[in-house]
Amino acid sequence: MADTAQSATTPVPDGARITVCEVGPRDGFQIESTFIPTDRKIAIVNALFAAGLRHMQVTSFVSPRAVPQLADAEEVLAGIDRPEGAVVTALIPNLRGAERAAACGVDAVHSVVSASETHNLKNVNRSVETSLKDFEAVFALLDKAGVAIEGGIATAFGCPFEGEVPPEQVARIAKRYQELGAKSVGLGDTTGMATPKTVQAAVRAIRAKAPGLGIGLHFHNTRGVGLACVMTGLAEGVTHYDASVGGLGGCPFAAGATGNICTEDLVYLLNESGYETGIDLDRLIDAAKLTQDVLGRDLPGQVIKSGPRLRRFDPGLTATAAG
Ligand code: COA
Ligand code: ZN
Repeated sequence: MADTAQSATTPVPDGARITVCEVGPRDGFQIESTFIPTDRKIAIVNALFAAGLRHMQVTSFVSPRAVPQLADAEEVLAGIDRPEGAVVTALIPNLRGAERAAACGVDAVHSVVSASETHNLKNVNRSVETSLKDFEAVFALLDKAGVAIEGGIATAFGCPFEGEVPPEQVARIAKRYQELGAKSVGLGDTTGMATPKTVQAAVRAIRAKAPGLGIGLHFHNTRGVGLACVMTGLAEGVTHYDASVGGLGGCPFAAGATGNICTEDLVYLLNESGYETGIDLDRLIDAAKLTQDVLGRDLPGQVIKSGPRLRRFDPGLTATAAG
């Protein structure tokens, strides 16, 4: 127990490898109301791989009536170039989703249950307990198919319908996931309610209740503190972060949901802080620009607008403040 408490407060060391998991093609596209043609989705995924991303949630295997945008999940997975070593994941809510994901040869799935009853009901039309019970058969199927499992916990830092979500409630679900065989959990900040304090509390509660369980963090920047929450995660020793290209994202079944933390902004922060991401920022900005072109609008990310830190401007093109 002492070791666990110790490791709970050991920050990620300088120079360590951080996993950045791109979730734009899932969390980002799912909230877009105009259907993005399948070949454009594939082009964006491939551009993101070309930038060096090696973890990506490429789509969801959910009801096409619930999320029509991702009805082409099979086609997207069949069309992308999967680089050597890439971990391709998809979100699933139930057994049908697991069967579809396994048939497509994904490397891992992100199962989803919410920490709050009301959001789980809105999102997957069942109680938290029913979701967790159903996961027994789901995980057995995935295990047999050799598909890894990340146990997703939505509304982990607060619920737009119920308000505060106690860390113990999140830790209880994390423990259930561990008992079901998941090696890691992903804490979803569905509507951007996470703060450095709540992140610290949730991570520590899970470490205390489910020692050895991996933790990933998934922040939305709804209230502008997404990257501050990443800094807290790093201080708590967490090495896995989700982000969306351009800052796309949001859950259609959560009031007030807006974009994820932006992948380019996160990679900028991590690379400039001396962590290793394996991701080329310039090529990532190209992928974000392609995403903007496909969607036909500017995205909220900041580095796509400002460029890398050492971008230089021609002094001849800038006004001089002569008195
Ligand atoms: N993929 C495709 N179709 C699915 C499916 C899946 N994973 N799960 C269920 N369906 C289909 C069923 O086959 C059935 O189709 P039919 O009416 O043609 O026979 C229909 O959906 C209803 O199935 P049911 O099991 O009764 O589901 P439901 O209506 O209670 O909805 C979910 C439950 C989980 C399928 C639905 O709420 C859902 O897809 N939620 C995902 C939401 C989401 O993606 N949120 C954002 C990410 S956090
Ligand atoms: Zn999300």
